[in-house]
Amino acid sequence: MPAHLLKGQKALVTGANSGIGKATAIALGRAGADVVVNYVVGADEAAKVVAEIEGFGVRSYAHEADVSKDDQVSVMVSRMVDEFGTIDIMVANAGLQRDAAVTEMTLAQWQKVIDVNLTGQFLCAREAVKEFLRRGVVPEVSRAAGKIICMSSVHQIVPWSGHVNYASSKGGVGMLMQTLAQELAPKKIRVNSVAPGAIRTPINKDAWETPDAEADLLKLIPYGRVGDPDDIANAVVAMASDLLDYVVGATLYVDGGMTLFPGFATGG
Ligand code: BGC
Repeated sequence: MPAHLLKGQKALVTGANSGIGKATAIALGRAGADVVVNYVVGADEAAKVVAEIEGFGVRSYAHEADVSKDDQVSVMVSRMVDEFGTIDIMVANAGLQRDAAVTEMTLAQWQKVIDVNLTGQFLCAREAVKEFLRRGVVPEVSRAAGKIICMSSVHQIVPWSGHVNYASSKGGVGMLMQTLAQELAPKKIRVNSVAPGAIRTPINKDAWETPDAEADLLKLIPYGRVGDPDDIANAVVAMASDLLDYVVGATLYVDGGMTLFPGFATGG
């Protein structure tokens, strides 16, 4: 990835103190962007991410906010405009799982996942778009007036037994993204999703941390390896850059082929 691909751009990554968000924030900084590292718990880890990003000679700070809270999201974005002058790239990444069989799933488990994974992306996108529209295109910075990248999942299209809250939230992210893309493209705002498969992060540790679990997981991944956070981070950098300026309303699956129905390679 060219080092100066995002030079002069201002990015915010939600849930940036661990997993995919952390790798993405660091990759954006390496590509030359100034980066706000959002987190909700885990200030120490967020501070380490900030220090690593500052090592690239760009600006960064950590900001605590719960993405599912309207007031906290608007304060987060207005502080960014105060400190960095504007926002060019919003990576709506923060997400969580609260797994249970449907008969065991509480309304609280359902609601928490929808609030963070879906409503959180709506609030973050809305606040970023207000600033994109205020500022408009600055051709020296980017051909677009702003970029929103929604962190989706293969479960945007792959049903997932025992995870109805999570799969529903990601299905919703797909339509949130496409509708915003349609609404905002005439304003030169690009909205797209990156949809990871199984990536080695804390969210799915049970699925890869023992050799048996990993062997089971690999049956679902034609490409034969569990993904790394950098696989996703690199996709986000590309999606945010002008290299992909004509990509509008797309979901980029970064999943080692997980969405290719691998069971059908020998069956059917
Ligand atoms: C989930 C992971 C899961 C992966 C593939 C992700 O969206 O968060 O827990 O391993 O999808 O199923």
